[in-house]
Amino acid sequence: MKIVVTGGCGFIGSAVIRHLLRKTSHQVLNIDCMTYAASEETVAEVATQPRYRHEAISINNQNAVERALAAFQPDAIMHLAAESHVDRSIDGPGAFIQTNVVGTYCLLEAARQYWLGLEGAKKAGFRFLHISTDEVFGHLEPEAPPFTEETAYDPRSPYSASKAASDHLVRAWYHTYGFPAFVTNTTNNYGPWHFPEKLIPLMIINALEGRPLPVYGKGENIRDWLFVEDHAAALVRAVERGKPGETYAIGARQPRKNLDVVRQICAILDELAPDPAGPRERLISFVSDRPGHDFRYEIDPSHAETCLEWKAEHDFETGLRRTIQWYLEHKAWWQRLREQRYDGQRLGVQK
Ligand code: DAU
Repeated sequence: MKIVVTGGCGFIGSAVIRHLLRKTSHQVLNIDCMTYAASEETVAEVATQPRYRHEAISINNQNAVERALAAFQPDAIMHLAAESHVDRSIDGPGAFIQTNVVGTYCLLEAARQYWLGLEGAKKAGFRFLHISTDEVFGHLEPEAPPFTEETAYDPRSPYSASKAASDHLVRAWYHTYGFPAFVTNTTNNYGPWHFPEKLIPLMIINALEGRPLPVYGKGENIRDWLFVEDHAAALVRAVERGKPGETYAIGARQPRKNLDVVRQICAILDELAPDPAGPRERLISFVSDRPGHDFRYEIDPSHAETCLEWKAEHDFETGLRRTIQWYLEHKAWWQRLREQRYDGQRLGVQK
């Protein structure tokens, strides 16, 4: 297949591209306009392969996307370009509306025009996979059953509302125009190349640098953790086998309390890179809570496991150890990010 990946220099998009180039014979066009969270290094291992190309265009630039699609002639589009950090969406929702809602609309229209021009088997086989989040379902009380594909939408942050809006657009294009699109909704990812504004990489790096580990509220909120390479494998399966109009809820059945995650990071780091100043749990610092902080997310992935014949390979302990090892071996990457300023803030120091 010829596959367009949007957001392919980001955390999940780059894992998808590395998976496609390592484990399949598909060709890839990466459309990524390189926002603050994108890094060329994430795809450096595939960058010189003839099956891979990158175009630094924005999904908001419908004409440029149309030209890129016409030239590449894809069989599928995997849409991962998005603003994704909840705290940033609280501080500045505009970019989330622009990229996640307007950008998805522009991409859908460019893709629909391209698809309308196709014929025969190429048109019948074309797929548009929209990658989304479990945050569109709102949050769960402690004893509530996990989210499934049937759960009603109830987004509660500017980020999740923008992703919910984009999901609705994608489904409207399927119902209204017969456009062959489908959606995946996924739990929290973690692993290599995770931008260090998110919980796990921020805690690993702060702990290594002896800085405070800022736990929001009491650290009792629960997230369901999926190793990013397992997610990439599920998405590639989905683009190969998924059905238009379907939804696949993807997760690994690994819910953990935030405080337990942070404690576990401290324990693994103490073992792999002992701190002469003492156990790193001393750095845990409880800070004021995120406004509207969703209490718990958890996904029941049974439908996706059956339909896609996929299952996550990593439990949280195995994936976390691999992740921490990776951050220990890639200090140059995150130290450079640490030095960079964006939006007037120095990464990590404001926490
Ligand atoms: O559920 C999927 C979602 O998971 C994705 O759609 C989002 O793009 C992704 O960012 C993630 O959202 P979260 O808000 O759950 O991720 P984050 O890493 O920001 O926070 C995880 C939990 O840790 C959350 O309960 C807030 C808490 N937290 C986070 C940070 C950055 C802290 O306690 N301290 C922190 O410094």
